[in-house]
Amino acid sequence: MLFMTFTRSKPWDALVKHRQDLEGTHLRELFARDPDRVARLSLSFDGLYYDFSKQRLTPETLGLLHALANEAGIADGIRRMFAGERINNTEDRAVLHVALRRSAGPFPGGDQNVMDEVLATRRRMAAFAERLRSGQCCGAKGMPIRDIVNIGIGGSDLGPKMMDYALRSIGHPTLGIHYVSNLDGAQMAPLLQTLDPRTTLFIVVSKTFTTQETLFNARTARNWLRANLGDDVVLQNHFAAVSSKPERAVEFGVNPDLVFPIWDWVGGRYSLWSAVGLALMIAIGPNAFDEMLKGAERMDEHFASAPVERNLPVTMALVGLWNTSFLGAESLAVLPYNESLKYFPSFLQQLEMESNGKSVTRDGETLPAPACPIVWGELGNNGQHAFFQLLHQGGRLVPCDFIAAVCSDFPLPEHQEALLSNCFAQSAALAFGKTAEEVRKDMEKALQRPEEIEMLLPHRVFKGNQPSSTLLLNSLSPASLGALVALYEHKVFVQGLIWGVNSFDQWGVELGKAMASLILPAVHDPERAVGLDASTQKLLAYCRSRLG
Ligand code: F6P
Repeated sequence: MLFMTFTRSKPWDALVKHRQDLEGTHLRELFARDPDRVARLSLSFDGLYYDFSKQRLTPETLGLLHALANEAGIADGIRRMFAGERINNTEDRAVLHVALRRSAGPFPGGDQNVMDEVLATRRRMAAFAERLRSGQCCGAKGMPIRDIVNIGIGGSDLGPKMMDYALRSIGHPTLGIHYVSNLDGAQMAPLLQTLDPRTTLFIVVSKTFTTQETLFNARTARNWLRANLGDDVVLQNHFAAVSSKPERAVEFGVNPDLVFPIWDWVGGRYSLWSAVGLALMIAIGPNAFDEMLKGAERMDEHFASAPVERNLPVTMALVGLWNTSFLGAESLAVLPYNESLKYFPSFLQQLEMESNGKSVTRDGETLPAPACPIVWGELGNNGQHAFFQLLHQGGRLVPCDFIAAVCSDFPLPEHQEALLSNCFAQSAALAFGKTAEEVRKDMEKALQRPEEIEMLLPHRVFKGNQPSSTLLLNSLSPASLGALVALYEHKVFVQGLIWGVNSFDQWGVELGKAMASLILPAVHDPERAVGLDASTQKLLAYCRSRLG
Protein backbone atom coordinates (compact mmCIF):
# COMPACT_ATOMS: atom_id res chain seq x y z
CA MET A 1 0.00 0.00 0.00
CA LEU A 2 1.45 3.34 -0.99
CA PHE A 3 1.44 6.48 1.07
CA MET A 4 -0.01 8.35 -1.92
CA THR A 5 -2.84 5.88 -2.00
CA PHE A 6 -3.84 5.80 1.57
CA THR A 7 -3.61 9.56 2.15
CA ARG A 8 -6.65 9.47 -0.07
CA SER A 9 -8.17 6.67 1.97
CA LYS A 10 -11.19 6.96 4.24
CA PRO A 11 -9.26 6.45 7.50
CA TRP A 12 -6.83 9.20 6.49
CA ASP A 13 -9.67 11.61 5.69
CA ALA A 14 -11.39 10.68 8.93
CA LEU A 15 -8.21 11.47 10.86
CA VAL A 16 -7.84 14.83 9.12
CA LYS A 17 -11.40 15.73 10.09
CA HIS A 18 -10.89 14.41 13.61
CA ARG A 19 -7.80 16.57 13.98
CA GLN A 20 -9.89 19.60 13.09
CA ASP A 21 -12.50 18.61 15.65
CA LEU A 22 -9.84 18.23 18.34
CA GLU A 23 -8.05 21.46 17.45
CA GLY A 24 -7.94 23.85 20.37
CA THR A 25 -8.76 21.17 22.94
CA HIS A 26 -6.22 21.37 25.72
CA LEU A 27 -4.78 18.31 27.45
CA ARG A 28 -6.28 19.70 30.66
CA GLU A 29 -9.69 19.39 29.14
CA LEU A 30 -9.04 15.92 27.75
CA PHE A 31 -8.02 14.71 31.22
CA ALA A 32 -10.99 16.43 32.88
CA ARG A 33 -13.43 14.90 30.41
CA ASP A 34 -12.38 11.29 30.83
CA PRO A 35 -11.55 9.90 34.26
CA ASP A 36 -10.42 6.64 32.65
CA ARG A 37 -8.09 8.35 30.23
CA VAL A 38 -4.86 6.97 31.68
CA ALA A 39 -6.18 3.41 31.71
CA ARG A 40 -7.34 3.75 28.14
CA LEU A 41 -4.20 5.37 26.88
CA SER A 42 -1.52 3.23 28.40
CA LEU A 43 -0.14 -0.24 27.75
CA SER A 44 2.22 -2.62 29.47
CA PHE A 45 4.22 -5.52 28.25
CA ASP A 46 6.95 -7.59 29.89
CA GLY A 47 8.00 -5.02 32.47
CA LEU A 48 7.58 -2.01 30.17
CA TYR A 49 4.86 0.52 30.95
CA TYR A 50 3.94 2.99 28.20
CA ASP A 51 1.77 5.94 29.20
CA PHE A 52 0.66 8.00 26.22
CA SER A 53 -2.24 9.70 27.97
CA LYS A 54 -0.40 13.02 27.75
CA GLN A 55 -0.51 12.91 23.97
CA ARG A 56 -2.99 15.20 22.22
CA LEU A 57 -5.33 12.42 21.26
CA THR A 58 -8.36 10.51 22.52
CA PRO A 59 -9.44 6.86 22.43
CA GLU A 60 -11.39 7.84 19.31
CA THR A 61 -8.17 9.03 17.65
CA LEU A 62 -6.62 5.73 18.50
CA GLY A 63 -9.49 3.83 16.89
CA LEU A 64 -9.08 5.87 13.71
CA LEU A 65 -5.33 5.26 13.73
CA HIS A 66 -5.96 1.53 14.06
CA ALA A 67 -8.20 1.71 11.01
CA LEU A 68 -5.42 3.50 9.15
CA ALA A 69 -2.91 0.87 10.19
CA ASN A 70 -5.22 -1.86 8.91
CA GLU A 71 -5.76 0.00 5.67
CA ALA A 72 -2.00 0.34 5.23
CA GLY A 73 -1.67 -3.45 5.59
CA ILE A 74 0.69 -3.44 8.53
CA ALA A 75 -0.26 -6.98 9.58
CA ASP A 76 0.84 -8.19 6.18
CA GLY A 77 4.02 -6.10 6.32
CA ILE A 78 4.93 -7.60 9.69
CA ARG A 79 4.18 -11.10 8.43
CA ARG A 80 6.38 -10.54 5.38
CA MET A 81 9.34 -9.38 7.45
CA PHE A 82 9.11 -12.36 9.81
CA ALA A 83 8.70 -14.68 6.82
CA GLY A 84 12.06 -13.53 5.46
CA GLU A 85 10.64 -11.95 2.30
CA ARG A 86 12.85 -9.51 0.44
CA ILE A 87 11.11 -6.44 1.81
CA ASN A 88 14.19 -4.24 1.36
CA ASN A 89 13.17 -3.81 -2.26
CA THR A 90 15.79 -1.28 -3.39
CA GLU A 91 18.61 -3.61 -2.33
CA ASP A 92 16.67 -6.80 -2.99
CA ARG A 93 17.35 -8.17 0.48
CA ALA A 94 15.44 -9.82 3.26
CA VAL A 95 15.33 -8.04 6.63
CA LEU A 96 16.09 -10.57 9.30
CA HIS A 97 17.51 -8.87 12.36
CA VAL A 98 14.71 -10.64 14.24
CA ALA A 99 16.45 -13.95 13.45
CA LEU A 100 19.51 -12.70 15.34
CA ARG A 101 17.53 -12.70 18.59
CA ARG A 102 16.34 -16.27 18.37
CA SER A 103 17.74 -18.93 20.64
CA ALA A 104 16.92 -21.80 18.29
CA GLY A 105 16.05 -22.49 14.69
CA PRO A 106 14.66 -22.96 12.25
CA PHE A 107 13.63 -19.47 11.35
CA PRO A 108 10.06 -19.85 10.15
CA GLY A 109 9.25 -19.15 6.53
CA GLY A 110 11.20 -17.57 3.72
CA ASP A 111 13.75 -19.24 1.53
CA GLN A 112 16.66 -18.86 3.90
CA ASN A 113 17.23 -20.85 6.99
CA VAL A 114 19.72 -18.55 8.57
CA MET A 115 19.66 -19.90 12.09
CA ASP A 116 22.54 -22.33 11.67
CA GLU A 117 24.91 -19.52 10.76
CA VAL A 118 23.47 -17.22 13.40
CA LEU A 119 23.85 -19.75 16.21
CA ALA A 120 27.28 -20.94 15.08
CA THR A 121 28.54 -17.34 15.00
CA ARG A 122 27.08 -16.65 18.42
CA ARG A 123 28.88 -19.71 19.80
CA ARG A 124 32.19 -18.54 18.29
CA MET A 125 31.66 -15.07 19.71
CA ALA A 126 30.92 -16.51 23.15
CA ALA A 127 34.03 -18.70 23.11
CA PHE A 128 36.22 -15.75 22.11
CA ALA A 129 34.56 -13.45 24.65
CA GLU A 130 35.07 -15.99 27.43
CA ARG A 131 38.75 -16.38 26.55
CA LEU A 132 39.22 -12.64 26.71
CA ARG A 133 37.21 -12.28 29.89
CA SER A 134 39.20 -14.97 31.66
CA GLY A 135 42.56 -13.55 30.59
CA GLN A 136 43.41 -16.51 28.35
CA CYS A 137 43.76 -14.45 25.22
CA CYS A 138 47.28 -13.18 24.91
CA GLY A 139 48.96 -10.62 22.70
CA ALA A 140 52.10 -11.27 20.64
CA LYS A 141 54.35 -10.80 23.65
CA GLY A 142 52.46 -13.38 25.71
CA MET A 143 50.68 -10.90 27.95
CA PRO A 144 46.90 -11.18 28.42
CA ILE A 145 44.75 -8.73 26.48
CA ARG A 146 43.49 -6.03 28.82
CA ASP A 147 41.99 -3.42 26.48
CA ILE A 148 39.63 -3.89 23.56
CA VAL A 149 39.01 -1.12 21.06
CA ASN A 150 35.93 -1.35 18.85
CA ILE A 151 36.64 0.51 15.61
CA GLY A 152 33.45 1.18 13.67
CA ILE A 153 30.97 3.93 12.90
CA GLY A 154 27.19 4.34 12.64
CA GLY A 155 25.53 0.99 13.22
CA SER A 156 28.94 -0.57 13.80
CA ASP A 157 29.45 1.66 16.82
CA LEU A 158 26.30 3.21 18.22
CA GLY A 159 24.41 0.07 19.27
CA PRO A 160 27.21 -1.71 21.17
CA LYS A 161 28.50 1.55 22.66
CA MET A 162 25.02 2.58 23.81
CA MET A 163 24.27 -0.82 25.33
CA ASP A 164 27.73 -1.21 26.88
CA TYR A 165 27.32 2.11 28.69
CA ALA A 166 23.76 1.26 29.71
CA LEU A 167 24.96 -2.02 31.24
CA ARG A 168 28.24 -0.85 32.70
CA SER A 169 27.11 -1.87 36.18
CA ILE A 170 27.58 -5.47 35.05
CA GLY A 171 30.58 -4.76 32.81
CA HIS A 172 33.80 -6.77 33.17
CA PRO A 173 35.68 -5.45 36.21
CA THR A 174 39.13 -5.18 34.68
CA LEU A 175 38.93 -5.23 30.89
CA GLY A 176 38.85 -1.79 29.29
CA ILE A 177 36.40 -1.56 26.38
CA HIS A 178 36.72 1.50 24.17
CA TYR A 179 34.87 2.72 21.08
CA VAL A 180 36.48 4.73 18.31
CA SER A 181 34.34 5.98 15.44
CA ASN A 182 35.40 9.46 14.49
CA LEU A 183 37.75 10.19 11.61
CA ASP A 184 39.08 12.99 13.76
CA GLY A 185 42.36 11.76 15.18
CA ALA A 186 41.41 13.60 18.35
CA GLN A 187 39.51 10.48 19.36
CA MET A 188 42.10 7.84 18.49
CA ALA A 189 45.33 9.68 19.39
CA PRO A 190 44.65 10.33 23.10
CA LEU A 191 43.23 6.83 23.51
CA LEU A 192 46.39 5.23 22.08
CA GLN A 193 48.44 7.18 24.60
CA THR A 194 46.65 5.38 27.41
CA LEU A 195 47.00 1.88 25.90
CA ASP A 196 49.74 -0.71 25.99
CA PRO A 197 50.18 -2.23 22.51
CA ARG A 198 51.19 -5.58 24.04
CA THR A 199 47.81 -5.93 25.74
CA THR A 200 45.45 -4.25 23.27
CA LEU A 201 43.07 -5.89 20.82
CA PHE A 202 41.28 -3.95 18.09
CA ILE A 203 37.98 -5.18 16.69
CA VAL A 204 37.37 -3.66 13.28
CA VAL A 205 33.62 -3.66 12.74
CA SER A 206 32.44 -2.80 9.27
CA LYS A 207 29.71 -4.54 7.36
CA THR A 208 31.15 -3.38 4.06
CA PHE A 209 34.79 -3.09 5.14
CA THR A 210 35.01 -0.03 2.90
CA THR A 211 33.92 2.72 5.28
CA GLN A 212 36.53 5.46 5.13
CA GLU A 213 36.43 6.43 8.81
CA THR A 214 36.76 2.85 10.00
CA LEU A 215 39.57 1.98 7.61
CA PHE A 216 41.48 5.13 8.54
CA ASN A 217 41.25 4.29 12.23
CA ALA A 218 42.07 0.63 11.60
CA ARG A 219 45.18 1.59 9.61
CA THR A 220 46.27 3.95 12.36
CA ALA A 221 45.87 1.11 14.87
CA ARG A 222 47.85 -1.21 12.60
CA ASN A 223 50.67 1.33 12.22
CA TRP A 224 50.77 1.83 15.97
CA LEU A 225 51.04 -1.91 16.58
CA ARG A 226 53.69 -2.31 13.88
CA ALA A 227 55.71 0.55 15.29
CA ASN A 228 55.56 -0.85 18.79
CA LEU A 229 55.53 -4.60 18.35
CA GLY A 230 57.50 -5.28 15.20
CA ASP A 231 56.45 -7.08 12.06
CA ASP A 232 53.04 -8.01 10.71
CA VAL A 233 52.90 -11.47 12.25
CA VAL A 234 52.11 -9.89 15.59
CA LEU A 235 48.99 -8.28 14.13
CA GLN A 236 47.32 -11.67 14.13
CA ASN A 237 47.03 -11.53 17.92
CA HIS A 238 45.82 -7.97 18.08
CA PHE A 239 43.03 -7.72 15.53
CA ALA A 240 39.60 -9.25 15.20
CA ALA A 241 37.00 -8.17 12.65
CA VAL A 242 33.28 -8.29 11.98
CA SER A 243 32.16 -7.98 8.40
CA SER A 244 29.96 -9.30 5.64
CA LYS A 245 33.12 -9.22 3.49
CA PRO A 246 35.48 -11.44 5.49
CA GLU A 247 37.99 -11.62 2.64
CA ARG A 248 38.60 -7.87 2.94
CA ALA A 249 39.30 -8.21 6.65
CA VAL A 250 41.76 -11.03 6.01
CA GLU A 251 43.46 -9.01 3.32
CA PHE A 252 43.83 -6.21 5.87
CA GLY A 253 45.78 -8.61 8.08
CA VAL A 254 43.18 -10.03 10.44
CA ASN A 255 43.60 -13.65 11.49
CA PRO A 256 40.82 -15.55 9.61
CA ASP A 257 39.94 -17.36 12.86
CA LEU A 258 39.04 -14.02 14.38
CA VAL A 259 36.83 -12.74 11.56
CA PHE A 260 33.16 -12.96 12.49
CA PRO A 261 30.49 -12.79 9.80
CA ILE A 262 27.43 -10.64 9.41
CA TRP A 263 25.07 -10.91 6.49
CA ASP A 264 23.49 -8.67 3.90
CA TRP A 265 20.07 -9.23 5.50
CA VAL A 266 21.01 -7.27 8.59
CA GLY A 267 21.15 -3.50 8.28
CA GLY A 268 23.93 -1.67 10.15
CA ARG A 269 21.51 0.12 12.48
CA TYR A 270 19.77 -3.19 13.30
CA SER A 271 22.98 -5.15 13.85
CA LEU A 272 23.62 -4.82 17.58
CA TRP A 273 22.35 -8.39 18.04
CA SER A 274 24.91 -9.88 15.65
CA ALA A 275 28.70 -10.14 15.87
CA VAL A 276 28.63 -6.34 15.66
CA GLY A 277 27.84 -6.66 19.38
CA LEU A 278 31.09 -8.57 20.04
CA ALA A 279 32.69 -5.81 22.15
CA LEU A 280 29.46 -5.61 24.13
CA MET A 281 29.46 -9.36 24.66
CA ILE A 282 33.04 -9.16 25.90
CA ALA A 283 32.02 -6.39 28.27
CA ILE A 284 28.91 -7.97 29.80
CA GLY A 285 29.54 -11.66 29.12
CA PRO A 286 27.73 -14.13 26.86
CA ASN A 287 24.99 -14.89 29.41
CA ALA A 288 23.93 -11.29 29.79
CA PHE A 289 24.15 -10.90 26.00
CA ASP A 290 21.77 -13.85 25.67
CA GLU A 291 19.38 -12.25 28.15
CA MET A 292 19.40 -9.11 26.05
CA LEU A 293 18.54 -11.20 23.00
CA LYS A 294 15.74 -12.91 24.92
CA GLY A 295 14.23 -9.58 25.91
CA ALA A 296 14.27 -8.53 22.27
CA GLU A 297 12.86 -11.87 21.15
CA ARG A 298 9.93 -11.54 23.57
CA MET A 299 9.22 -8.12 22.09
CA ASP A 300 9.39 -9.67 18.60
CA GLU A 301 6.83 -12.30 19.56
CA HIS A 302 4.55 -9.67 21.05
CA PHE A 303 4.93 -7.49 17.96
CA ALA A 304 4.17 -10.34 15.60
CA SER A 305 1.17 -11.66 17.49
CA ALA A 306 -0.57 -9.01 19.62
CA PRO A 307 -3.63 -7.33 18.13
CA VAL A 308 -3.03 -3.70 17.13
CA GLU A 309 -5.00 -2.43 20.15
CA ARG A 310 -2.55 -4.05 22.58
CA ASN A 311 0.54 -3.98 20.41
CA LEU A 312 3.19 -1.77 22.00
CA PRO A 313 5.38 -1.04 18.95
CA VAL A 314 2.33 -0.46 16.76
CA THR A 315 0.79 1.90 19.31
CA MET A 316 4.02 3.83 19.68
CA ALA A 317 4.30 4.08 15.91
CA LEU A 318 0.73 5.36 15.58
CA VAL A 319 1.23 7.97 18.30
CA GLY A 320 4.32 9.24 16.47
CA LEU A 321 2.54 9.21 13.16
CA TRP A 322 -0.35 11.22 14.62
CA ASN A 323 2.09 13.85 15.89
CA THR A 324 4.07 14.06 12.68
CA SER A 325 1.58 13.54 9.88
CA PHE A 326 -1.55 15.04 11.45
CA LEU A 327 -0.44 17.55 14.09
CA GLY A 328 2.54 18.65 11.99
CA ALA A 329 5.28 18.11 14.59
CA GLU A 330 8.71 18.53 13.03
CA SER A 331 10.70 16.72 15.66
CA LEU A 332 10.71 14.16 18.43
CA ALA A 333 12.70 14.79 21.60
CA VAL A 334 14.05 11.68 23.30
CA LEU A 335 14.64 12.37 26.98
CA PRO A 336 16.05 9.53 29.07
CA TYR A 337 15.96 10.13 32.81
CA ASN A 338 18.80 7.74 33.40
CA GLU A 339 22.49 8.48 33.09
CA SER A 340 23.05 4.98 31.72
CA LEU A 341 20.93 5.82 28.67
CA LYS A 342 23.28 8.66 27.73
CA TYR A 343 23.87 7.32 24.23
CA PHE A 344 20.29 6.25 23.57
CA PRO A 345 19.25 9.49 21.79
CA SER A 346 22.18 9.19 19.32
CA PHE A 347 21.40 5.54 18.77
CA LEU A 348 17.77 6.39 18.02
CA GLN A 349 18.78 9.19 15.70
CA GLN A 350 20.41 6.69 13.39
CA LEU A 351 17.68 4.09 13.84
CA GLU A 352 14.83 6.46 13.04
CA MET A 353 16.34 8.98 10.66
CA GLU A 354 18.48 6.64 8.59
CA SER A 355 15.49 4.31 8.33
CA ASN A 356 12.66 6.70 7.59
CA GLY A 357 14.35 9.96 6.59
CA LYS A 358 13.15 9.50 3.02
CA SER A 359 10.89 11.43 0.70
CA VAL A 360 9.92 8.80 -1.84
CA THR A 361 7.85 5.68 -1.35
CA ARG A 362 9.12 2.17 -1.91
CA ASP A 363 7.86 2.57 -5.48
CA GLY A 364 9.62 5.86 -6.06
CA GLU A 365 6.58 8.13 -5.72
CA THR A 366 7.27 11.45 -4.03
CA LEU A 367 5.66 11.66 -0.59
CA PRO A 368 3.17 14.51 -0.20
CA ALA A 369 4.81 15.54 3.09
CA PRO A 370 8.00 14.70 4.95
CA ALA A 371 7.78 11.44 6.84
CA CYS A 372 10.27 10.95 9.66
CA PRO A 373 10.53 13.68 12.29
CA ILE A 374 13.89 15.09 13.33
CA VAL A 375 14.90 12.96 16.29
CA TRP A 376 17.02 14.67 18.89
CA GLY A 377 17.50 14.50 22.60
CA GLU A 378 19.71 14.41 25.63
CA LEU A 379 19.66 13.14 29.16
CA GLY A 380 16.43 14.65 30.46
CA ASN A 381 17.66 15.96 33.76
CA ASN A 382 20.57 17.79 32.13
CA GLY A 383 18.27 19.05 29.38
CA GLN A 384 16.00 20.67 31.99
CA HIS A 385 18.73 23.19 32.66
CA ALA A 386 19.52 23.74 29.01
CA PHE A 387 16.85 23.46 26.31
CA PHE A 388 13.65 22.64 28.25
CA GLN A 389 12.89 26.38 28.35
CA LEU A 390 11.96 26.11 24.68
CA LEU A 391 9.84 23.03 25.28
CA HIS A 392 7.89 24.85 27.98
CA GLN A 393 7.52 28.31 26.53
CA GLY A 394 9.08 28.37 23.06
CA GLY A 395 5.72 28.02 21.31
CA ARG A 396 6.80 25.05 19.18
CA LEU A 397 5.12 21.70 19.06
CA VAL A 398 7.77 19.22 20.23
CA PRO A 399 6.48 15.77 21.18
CA CYS A 400 8.71 14.13 23.77
CA ASP A 401 9.52 10.55 24.74
CA PHE A 402 10.40 10.44 28.44
CA ILE A 403 12.20 7.20 29.30
CA ALA A 404 13.09 6.09 32.82
CA ALA A 405 13.90 2.99 34.83
CA VAL A 406 12.05 2.63 38.11
CA CYS A 407 14.96 1.00 39.95
CA SER A 408 18.55 2.12 39.62
CA ASP A 409 21.48 -0.24 39.19
CA PHE A 410 23.61 2.00 41.31
CA PRO A 411 23.43 2.86 45.01
CA LEU A 412 22.13 6.24 46.28
CA PRO A 413 18.37 5.51 46.21
CA GLU A 414 17.52 9.07 47.19
CA HIS A 415 18.99 10.22 43.85
CA GLN A 416 16.70 7.84 42.02
CA GLU A 417 13.57 9.13 43.78
CA ALA A 418 14.48 12.73 43.00
CA LEU A 419 15.29 11.81 39.41
CA LEU A 420 11.94 10.09 38.86
CA SER A 421 10.06 13.01 40.38
CA ASN A 422 11.83 15.36 38.01
CA CYS A 423 10.89 13.16 35.08
CA PHE A 424 7.21 13.06 36.06
CA ALA A 425 7.16 16.75 36.97
CA GLN A 426 8.45 17.75 33.56
CA SER A 427 5.95 15.74 31.55
CA ALA A 428 3.11 17.02 33.75
CA ALA A 429 4.28 20.63 33.49
CA LEU A 430 4.60 20.31 29.72
CA ALA A 431 1.12 18.84 29.44
CA PHE A 432 -0.85 20.99 31.83
CA GLY A 433 1.15 24.18 32.08
CA LYS A 434 0.13 26.99 34.39
CA THR A 435 -2.63 29.46 33.54
CA ALA A 436 -2.49 33.23 34.03
CA GLU A 437 -5.01 32.86 36.84
CA GLU A 438 -2.86 30.36 38.68
CA VAL A 439 0.24 32.46 38.20
CA ARG A 440 -1.57 35.58 39.45
CA LYS A 441 -2.81 33.75 42.56
CA ASP A 442 0.68 32.54 43.39
CA MET A 443 2.15 35.97 43.01
CA GLU A 444 -0.58 37.56 45.10
CA LYS A 445 0.04 34.96 47.78
CA ALA A 446 3.71 35.90 47.71
CA LEU A 447 2.59 39.50 48.28
CA GLN A 448 4.11 40.79 45.07
CA ARG A 449 3.16 44.33 44.06
CA PRO A 450 0.33 44.67 41.47
CA GLU A 451 2.58 46.38 38.89
CA GLU A 452 5.17 43.67 39.33
CA ILE A 453 2.48 41.03 38.87
CA GLU A 454 1.29 42.64 35.63
CA MET A 455 4.83 42.92 34.31
CA LEU A 456 5.81 39.33 35.10
CA LEU A 457 2.54 37.60 34.34
CA PRO A 458 3.08 36.91 30.61
CA HIS A 459 6.57 35.58 31.33
CA ARG A 460 5.39 33.18 33.97
CA VAL A 461 2.46 31.63 32.14
CA PHE A 462 2.98 28.10 30.81
CA LYS A 463 0.59 27.28 28.01
CA GLY A 464 1.15 23.55 28.39
CA ASN A 465 -0.45 21.17 25.88
CA GLN A 466 2.99 19.90 24.89
CA PRO A 467 2.47 16.19 24.12
CA SER A 468 4.64 13.47 25.58
CA SER A 469 4.75 9.77 26.32
CA THR A 470 6.46 8.17 29.28
CA LEU A 471 8.07 4.79 28.98
CA LEU A 472 9.02 3.08 32.24
CA LEU A 473 11.27 0.06 32.54
CA ASN A 474 11.51 -1.80 35.84
CA SER A 475 15.27 -1.54 35.70
CA LEU A 476 18.00 -1.42 33.08
CA SER A 477 18.50 -5.16 32.84
CA PRO A 478 19.93 -6.72 29.66
CA ALA A 479 16.47 -8.14 28.91
CA SER A 480 14.59 -4.88 29.38
CA LEU A 481 17.12 -3.00 27.28
CA GLY A 482 16.85 -5.64 24.56
CA ALA A 483 13.09 -5.17 24.64
CA LEU A 484 13.44 -1.38 24.57
CA VAL A 485 15.61 -1.39 21.46
CA ALA A 486 13.40 -3.96 19.70
CA LEU A 487 10.38 -1.83 20.58
CA TYR A 488 11.84 1.20 18.82
CA GLU A 489 13.04 -0.91 15.87
CA HIS A 490 9.53 -2.19 15.30
CA LYS A 491 8.00 1.22 15.83
CA VAL A 492 10.23 2.55 13.04
CA PHE A 493 9.25 -0.35 10.79
CA VAL A 494 5.51 0.23 11.30
CA GLN A 495 5.86 3.93 10.62
CA GLY A 496 7.81 3.14 7.47
CA LEU A 497 5.04 0.79 6.36
CA ILE A 498 2.40 3.47 6.84
CA TRP A 499 4.43 6.24 5.25
CA GLY A 500 5.19 3.77 2.48
CA VAL A 501 8.99 4.11 2.63
CA ASN A 502 11.64 1.40 2.60
CA SER A 503 13.05 1.64 6.13
CA PHE A 504 16.03 -0.58 5.34
CA ASP A 505 18.11 1.23 2.74
CA GLN A 506 20.15 4.43 3.18
CA TRP A 507 20.92 5.86 -0.24
CA GLY A 508 21.02 9.34 1.26
CA VAL A 509 24.46 8.79 2.77
CA GLU A 510 26.11 7.91 -0.54
CA LEU A 511 26.49 11.33 -2.17
CA GLY A 512 28.48 12.86 0.68
CA LYS A 513 30.75 9.78 0.83
CA ALA A 514 31.49 9.98 -2.90
CA MET A 515 32.17 13.69 -2.71
CA ALA A 516 34.53 13.27 0.23
CA SER A 517 36.72 10.98 -1.89
CA LEU A 518 36.72 13.56 -4.68
CA ILE A 519 37.67 16.35 -2.33
CA LEU A 520 40.39 14.52 -0.35
CA PRO A 521 43.12 14.79 -3.03
CA ALA A 522 42.25 18.46 -3.52
CA VAL A 523 43.21 19.29 0.05
CA HIS A 524 46.84 19.33 -1.08
CA ASP A 525 46.58 19.56 -4.84
CA PRO A 526 44.80 22.67 -6.20
CA GLU A 527 44.57 21.08 -9.64
CA ARG A 528 42.30 18.38 -8.22
CA ALA A 529 39.94 21.13 -7.07
CA VAL A 530 39.12 22.14 -10.63
CA GLY A 531 35.48 21.39 -11.33
CA LEU A 532 34.43 21.67 -7.69
CA ASP A 533 31.94 24.40 -6.78
CA ALA A 534 33.27 27.88 -5.94
CA SER A 535 32.49 27.65 -2.23
CA THR A 536 34.31 24.32 -1.82
CA GLN A 537 37.27 25.59 -3.84
CA LYS A 538 37.58 28.61 -1.57
CA LEU A 539 37.28 26.49 1.58
CA LEU A 540 40.05 24.23 0.28
CA ALA A 541 42.27 27.15 -0.68
CA TYR A 542 41.76 28.66 2.77
CA CYS A 543 42.86 25.41 4.44
CA ARG A 544 45.75 24.87 2.04
CA SER A 545 47.17 28.28 2.86
CA ARG A 546 47.13 27.42 6.55
CA LEU A 547 48.12 23.75 6.40
CA GLY A 548 51.25 24.61 4.47
O1 F6P B 1 27.13 5.62 5.98
C1 F6P B 1 26.07 4.95 6.55
C2 F6P B 1 26.43 3.58 6.97
O2 F6P B 1 26.45 2.76 5.88
C3 F6P B 1 25.48 3.05 8.03
O3 F6P B 1 24.30 2.59 7.49
C4 F6P B 1 26.33 2.02 8.67
O4 F6P B 1 25.84 1.63 9.92
C5 F6P B 1 27.64 2.75 8.75
O5 F6P B 1 27.71 3.52 7.58
C6 F6P B 1 28.85 1.87 8.85
O6 F6P B 1 28.94 1.01 7.76
P1 F6P B 1 29.93 -0.22 7.78
O7 F6P B 1 29.50 -1.12 8.88
O8 F6P B 1 29.78 -0.86 6.43
O9 F6P B 1 31.32 0.30 8.01
